[in-house]
Amino acid sequence: MSDKIYPVPADWAARAYVDKARYEAMYQASIEDPEGFWGEHGRRIHWFAPYTKVKNTSFAPGAVSIRWYEDGITNVAYNCIDRHLPERADQVAIIWEGDDPSEQKHITYQELHDEVARFANVLRLRGVEKGDRVTIYMPMIPEAAYAMLACARLGAIHSVVFGGFSPDSLAGRITDCGSKVIITADEGLRGGRKIPLKINVDEAIAIAGGVEHVVVVRRTGSPVNMVPGRDVWWHDAAALVTTECPCEEMGAEDPLFILYTSGSTGKPKGVLHTTGGYLVYVSMTFQYIFDYHGGEIFWCTADVGWVTGHSYIVYGPLANGATTLMFEGIPTYPTKSRMWEVVDKHKVNIFYTAPTALRALMQAGDEPVKSTSRASLRLLGSVGEPINPEAWEWYHRVVGDDRCPIVDTWWQTETGGALISPLPGATDLKPGSATLPFFGVQPELLDADGKVIEGAGAGNLVLKDSWPGQMRTVYGDHARFMETYFSAYPNRYFTGDGCRRDEDGYYWITGRVDDVLNVSGHRLGTAEVESALVAHEYVSEAAVVGYPHDIKGQGIYAYVTLMVGVEASDQLRKDLVTWVRHEIGPIATPDLIQFAPGLPKTRSGKIMRRILRKIAEDEHGSLGDTSTLADPGVVDDLVTNRLNKR
Ligand code: WT7
Repeated sequence: MSDKIYPVPADWAARAYVDKARYEAMYQASIEDPEGFWGEHGRRIHWFAPYTKVKNTSFAPGAVSIRWYEDGITNVAYNCIDRHLPERADQVAIIWEGDDPSEQKHITYQELHDEVARFANVLRLRGVEKGDRVTIYMPMIPEAAYAMLACARLGAIHSVVFGGFSPDSLAGRITDCGSKVIITADEGLRGGRKIPLKINVDEAIAIAGGVEHVVVVRRTGSPVNMVPGRDVWWHDAAALVTTECPCEEMGAEDPLFILYTSGSTGKPKGVLHTTGGYLVYVSMTFQYIFDYHGGEIFWCTADVGWVTGHSYIVYGPLANGATTLMFEGIPTYPTKSRMWEVVDKHKVNIFYTAPTALRALMQAGDEPVKSTSRASLRLLGSVGEPINPEAWEWYHRVVGDDRCPIVDTWWQTETGGALISPLPGATDLKPGSATLPFFGVQPELLDADGKVIEGAGAGNLVLKDSWPGQMRTVYGDHARFMETYFSAYPNRYFTGDGCRRDEDGYYWITGRVDDVLNVSGHRLGTAEVESALVAHEYVSEAAVVGYPHDIKGQGIYAYVTLMVGVEASDQLRKDLVTWVRHEIGPIATPDLIQFAPGLPKTRSGKIMRRILRKIAEDEHGSLGDTSTLADPGVVDDLVTNRLNKR
């Protein structure tokens, strides 16, 4: 924990929407009178028919129900596009920067309108209607945003699946939500390497079944297999339709999208977000947290396959009529200066990235940063995992030339938008702290017994009441929604994160307290990696834990027990790594695999992960009580053979 304080710069206090006094007044108002506060701020988006009800939410055990603006009628695509046309038709909405620095596009709001309307018409001609689910498996190209907005225009529910997921993972997500239509590209392109998206889609459809149409965007031009009657090229279909497509009238609580995310148990959950509250919340957090003023260039480096991309590449910026930059490539291609070269080339003012990228770039030294200007930058952001103070300081000093505040935004797929974050004109910064709650957000720290921790202290982070961007349910499984988030503590939303609060009321997220890993800012369930491992014919049992990793934040440490008669070898280790990558995707690549003749279990057969975590974290000197183990002897073997490559 760093005790350094970076006060709000004077020019920021003067020019920002919100200074310290205003933050306090607005925060108080939002807590004392949520109805009044959100009733007023809900009008920041356009409603075809205004709402008369604002908040109707309950966290009551067995009866969790979350509704915001429930009788309002609106459309997200209308708010992100059509509404801006009278004033901003010729303003750039999306700057696209290709993987190769020679490729870029500037898409105006008028062009965005035309492309999205065309895309919607292509989908409509393939039978897509309000409420239908459409799976989007795309690289970072403008058509990914067009596809999302086209669904929103029609009232279809999109499910974007990150292009790094395997055919198997994609198939599971297609099946779970029953998509009949998939939107993809021939291939993706990242760091000069091609990703076989269409091939993966074909494989996924073979597993999942039920898919009637595949719309394929041409990206690399490599030949792909097109199934007659099922597959169509986007450019062929788009040539046959007009740029006119009315926006469907959507109830505030009609679903907007599903996004699958990992939990501590079972398969990934389909997090469901709806229309009105989500848009109000992402649009408002975007404006205030990034202090966005018209004409500025905003760049969020996430992939649209994650919630950060949904909320802060597409919906938040476009709802504000902003110019949002979409980057296809990776931070280190073709050179280690790429990010900063893109900043200079497009005169980026606000830059939002993940600590893991910063730590990787930091290792390359200051020179690749210092060789660029970055004079356009005025604000920096961080998201996805706790940012260690060293990375924060480097970001501030080297990237921001000691001039740009850093907003460390804590949130989750489930929360829709940022919940704990500085406002740059209002909040003094402490490196490593996400600082203070956004308007309407009421964090609370509880100990294991559910006792409230007052003042400074540490505990499990819960939220006392709803905010408009909150997820509404797990798609198709409301019982799982209630069980996952509302059963640990009655009447509270449990985040799964541990957190400290200091004397100034600042929040310091310490990381997950459940069996969820955060690897390079990507969320992964230990159970998922375990089930991939045990699906291998030579594996009898597996237990997976996280361990501290210099770049990734957390690395994946797998303990694997082999079938009787199978010999442990380095080759088998490699085979298992390849296997997991194939089963889930490269983000699940185990960093370390330890072959273990036995796993530490209680007499009732439960694996004691606490012990495995300690061994992986190199803290086997403090294993705690092992007397309840069925066979305490296994621990000695685990400690002796622990792997120590970092
Ligand atoms: C988990 C949510 C937020 C969108 C991207 C990740 C961790 C996220 C921070 C932060 C410390 C953070 C938490 C959270 N996390 N942001 N600023 N400081 N931890 O969304 O995949 O749903 O993961 O990421 O552990 O629970 P996600």
